[in-house]
Amino acid sequence: MRIGILTGGGDCPGLNAVIRAVVRKGILHYEDEFTGFIEGWRGVLENKTTKLDLNAVSDILLRGGTILRTSRTNPAKREGGLAQCIETFNKNKLDALITLGGDDTQSVSKKLFEQGVKVVGVPKTIDNDLSGTDLCFGFDTAVSIATEAIDRVHTTAEAHNRIIVVEVMGRDSGWIALHSGIASGADIILVPEKPFDLVEVAETLKQSRQQGKLFGIVVVAEGAKVAGGAVDLGAAKDEFGHVRLGGIGNLLAQEIEKRAGLETRSVILGHIQRGGTPTAFDRMLATRYGVGAIDMVHRGEFGRLAALRGQEIVSVLLQEALQENRKVPPELLAMADSLQEKHGKAVLSNR
Ligand code: F6P
Repeated sequence: MRIGILTGGGDCPGLNAVIRAVVRKGILHYEDEFTGFIEGWRGVLENKTTKLDLNAVSDILLRGGTILRTSRTNPAKREGGLAQCIETFNKNKLDALITLGGDDTQSVSKKLFEQGVKVVGVPKTIDNDLSGTDLCFGFDTAVSIATEAIDRVHTTAEAHNRIIVVEVMGRDSGWIALHSGIASGADIILVPEKPFDLVEVAETLKQSRQQGKLFGIVVVAEGAKVAGGAVDLGAAKDEFGHVRLGGIGNLLAQEIEKRAGLETRSVILGHIQRGGTPTAFDRMLATRYGVGAIDMVHRGEFGRLAALRGQEIVSVLLQEALQENRKVPPELLAMADSLQEKHGKAVLSNR
């Protein structure tokens, strides 16, 4: 078969491992030929391609980013964009298309499938909140990076008797914040699932200081909201309508210093969490997704997504990736709280 591949949306460690697995199994087992589209849907719109053979995917398993590069281009927002994608598909005489991406990328996959393109999706988001699958590759790497960073911040906070706020990724869900926050023993973890009260944050840290703890670590997801209103930093939006986040950590640090009278610093981890080599766990998971996707193509399971359910890679409808984001469940938030001393809660809310 002749198969196209693209990577869309934000990158994450493990994309190359998926591409490698698709291409290796496709060539070695099914005698497929592969065309890579450069920079996600932009490459399809502009017919920017590259040949993907065994040589092209050699030595990429441990590389972060994506050899195909990526963009947040949305063909559905361009006049005649979807028709243009179909024209490119036909021009390249493709039998199928494998799309690696999150809900935005897969919303375009779904539209094209409805117009007859044979698409298989692979779920991808560093935020780990796609509803179709239990776990996204790249998340383990991001949590490891964030945890290591918080561990480092911990010792300097302790040396200076300071509060340090660490902002991690997580637009609509607090998976990275919760996992790295628990793994590093943070005092407070703030997630988008629970708008938080600034008074309560300051009060908790103050009480902790009065009880003898001379420093504190606060982990905040970039999408966490202050009760009574989101923090609007006036940021630009992308083609899928998402506001560029980042900055709540700085605001929070200022408020803590003002309200609790404790010296506070902030660190924004940002794209460091998406960069560099994937963990062994993510390389394995990404490889399983890649093999799952190419097998689906050959079973003719189109309009579907390779997904992890429990320990198994299965195929689910593309639609499932587009449903509401998978939130951190209350039980996990409660678990973080249960580790705190009587004065506080780890996950604060505007109760
Ligand atoms: O959607 C994943 C994500 O990493 C979010 O956590 C973050 O807000 C956003 O992408 C950053 O996007 P960009 O790489 O376009 O700045």
